[in-house]
Amino acid sequence: MVLGVGLMSVLLLILPPVTYATTPSFSIDYRQNCFLKDGEAFRYISGSIHYSRIPRVYWKDRLLKMYMAGLNAIQTYVPWNFHEPVPGQYDFSGDRDLEHFLQLCQDIGLLVIMRPGPYICAEWDMGGLPSWLLKKKDIVLRSSDPDYLAAVDKWMGQLLPIINRHLYQNGGPIITVQVENEYGSYFACDYNYMRHLSQLFRSHLGEEVVLFTTDGAGVGYLKCGSLQGIYATVDFGPGSNVTAAFEAQRHAEPRGPLVNSEFYTGWLDHWGEKHVVIPTAAVVKSLNEILEMGANVNLYMFIGGTNFGYWNGANSPYGPQPTSYDYDAPLTEAGDLTEKYFAIREVIKMYKELPGGLLPPSTPKFAYGQVQMKKLKTVLESLDILSFSGPVKTLYPPTFTEMNQAFGFMLYQTVLPVNCLKPTPLSSPLNGVHDRAYISIDGIAAGILERNKALTINITGKAGSRVDVLVENMGRINYGKEINDFKGLVFNLTLGADVLGNWTVYSLSIDEAVREGLLSASSGFISTSTSFTTSSPPALSPPTFYAGSFIIPNGIPDLPQDTYIQFPNWRKGQVWINGFNVGRYWPSRGPQVTLFVPAHLLSTSVQNNITVLELEASPCSSGSCTVEFTDTPVINGTVKSTGHFKSSSTDKTFWSRTILE
Ligand SMILES: *[C@@H]1O[C@H](CO)[C@@H](O)[C@H](O)[C@H]1NC(C)=O
Ligand SMILES: *[C@@H]1O[C@H](CO)[C@@H](O)[C@H](O)[C@H]1NC(C)=O
Ligand SMILES: *[C@@H]1O[C@H](CO)[C@@H](O)[C@H](O)[C@H]1NC(C)=O
Ligand SMILES: *[C@@H]1O[C@H](CO)[C@@H](O)[C@H](O)[C@H]1NC(C)=O
Ligand SMILES: *[C@@H]1O[C@H](CO)[C@@H](O)[C@H](O)[C@H]1NC(C)=O
Ligand SMILES: *[C@@H]1O[C@H](CO)[C@@H](O)[C@H](O)[C@H]1NC(C)=O
Repeated sequence: MVLGVGLMSVLLLILPPVTYATTPSFSIDYRQNCFLKDGEAFRYISGSIHYSRIPRVYWKDRLLKMYMAGLNAIQTYVPWNFHEPVPGQYDFSGDRDLEHFLQLCQDIGLLVIMRPGPYICAEWDMGGLPSWLLKKKDIVLRSSDPDYLAAVDKWMGQLLPIINRHLYQNGGPIITVQVENEYGSYFACDYNYMRHLSQLFRSHLGEEVVLFTTDGAGVGYLKCGSLQGIYATVDFGPGSNVTAAFEAQRHAEPRGPLVNSEFYTGWLDHWGEKHVVIPTAAVVKSLNEILEMGANVNLYMFIGGTNFGYWNGANSPYGPQPTSYDYDAPLTEAGDLTEKYFAIREVIKMYKELPGGLLPPSTPKFAYGQVQMKKLKTVLESLDILSFSGPVKTLYPPTFTEMNQAFGFMLYQTVLPVNCLKPTPLSSPLNGVHDRAYISIDGIAAGILERNKALTINITGKAGSRVDVLVENMGRINYGKEINDFKGLVFNLTLGADVLGNWTVYSLSIDEAVREGLLSASSGFISTSTSFTTSSPPALSPPTFYAGSFIIPNGIPDLPQDTYIQFPNWRKGQVWINGFNVGRYWPSRGPQVTLFVPAHLLSTSVQNNITVLELEASPCSSGSCTVEFTDTPVINGTVKSTGHFKSSSTDKTFWSRTILE
């Protein structure tokens, strides 16, 4: 097209003053087998940090520590269920402020490898998928099921424009974007689904962006995980044969940069299994081999952080992960520098200049000491404040999803249809308690049913006695074909040979009630029993709320500081501090004993309020009734397994076992 001279000069005036050479660009160089950043060969040394597992106030501190280790990039997941709690309601505020996180990365000088899902695994509830997808009971997740795709398209229509604004070529820090996550490990192997995602990502992000997939370093995984037009990368941990692992990548990508998208610095834990430690020596040895080959690497995790609230996932056979996601990573759950951190930094230093400046120190921890707790009310005594909408009556039990509840606890009530004068089995014959049920008869604790572990208890009672079944959702399966993980009583309970029916079901809004102070305000304190007669562990009690408060001392500089809360002689439950759901405690199962409490939750001007929901039995009737704040974390306590539980057996678990042995 020929333009008149006059129009040409007008155009020149209004065009932004950028020349071709300074336009940021990021691409793959298939001739030189590397990435190209602004036209130059580039290799990343990255680390994983999940903003959803770290309080916003600490994002900058953790990123700075990653930068000071010599990393030039970070990798993060976007958990869909963290941002779209109910269909069509999006939350990108506070701890969910993704754009603020990306801006901090850029300010500090870290590039970003983005993993927007829609599925992320990540040891996160349901692998990041929102549980409301299960409203369609037979939905095939991670496939071209039309209802699944419609929800994905809508969500990505919100998320991908945000990511687009922060792409490297648009002036932001994001260099590459992952499509799905280890799809080759999923049974569906639906190429139409991957093609749909590829087109969806391209339509929002453009043709230029480097899209990639990540799969296990085996040709079998890459078969269903990789797709033409999306760059295939692999993941593997220390102790693997690095040459063989990258040969698997070469099978899918004969040319281009070598990339390990998840090099495991540590490993995940499960309740009831020993805390996993991956030796530093093994990590640095393999890291060195990877860097020596000129490969790109992302260290998963560089900092694991915390599964606050109810966000932990689970593996199958059902084994939920604890509150801490420390991961034995180079930065601890609380952001502390470890010997692994310094050892990794020394390896990186052999390949790349480390940044100058001061390394931010580990944040100080403070032992606030013991806090006296007082019994409030049982859950059953609090139904008026926990169930805003009142109960629903149904013949057979509904799931959490059918009751529009995503997380936490639901109460199922019925009556004994017959006299049970002799011990009578109350059972979940189809293993339908998802995941743990606290049962009482006429308000007296009668036992616990647990998924895969305890399918029957014996009860006694008269016909017409009230049966209360409080069901805890302990976190949805995040990996494998069982991610359609319905919660609640997903199959009928039986009493003897008969199916129990005629239920009254309460959806419980415990978090809202705690946040609004309803529990403490409405109940008043009941004095605890002071009989010290028994030293044996107390028998089961019905799930009960406890409260306590403490004041942070004056005259000690720099308070509040981070701390850890522990529960001496308590069994299992949930804890809130000043209304924030800190997570699940379960010292009677282990291995986690202390829960990380970041300083920003604490107040120095007013009293701090602790609310505890103890599900099994508190120590309060046998003398001491305290929780304790300590300055030392314990996530490797002794574990008490219940016996007939087989540990999860994912491929990844297998290698971590092998390296430990
Ligand atoms: C690692 O794998 C390569 C390529 O498959 C093989 O040649 C080599 O022998 C392996 N090394 C070890 C120590 O097994
Ligand atoms: C229930 O009671 C029966 C008969 O007393 C006994 O055989 C059985 O082991 C008990 N079951 C449990 C789970 O306690
Ligand atoms: C409960 O049992 C009834 C009667 O046998 C059956 O119709 C119903 O589908 C069962 N419900 C569940 C969730 O198992
Ligand atoms: C439910 O209650 C009705 C009316 O009392 C009764 O006829 C029926 O047998 C009960 N069903 C079950 C499964 O308990
Ligand atoms: C703790 O509860 C008390 C009494 O309800 C209230 O005055 C105080 O503000 C609460 N503390 C915090 C930090 O919210
Ligand atoms: C737990 O970790 C601490 C600190 O690393 C260590 O001293 C202790 O021996 C470990 N305990 C167990 C039971 O492994």
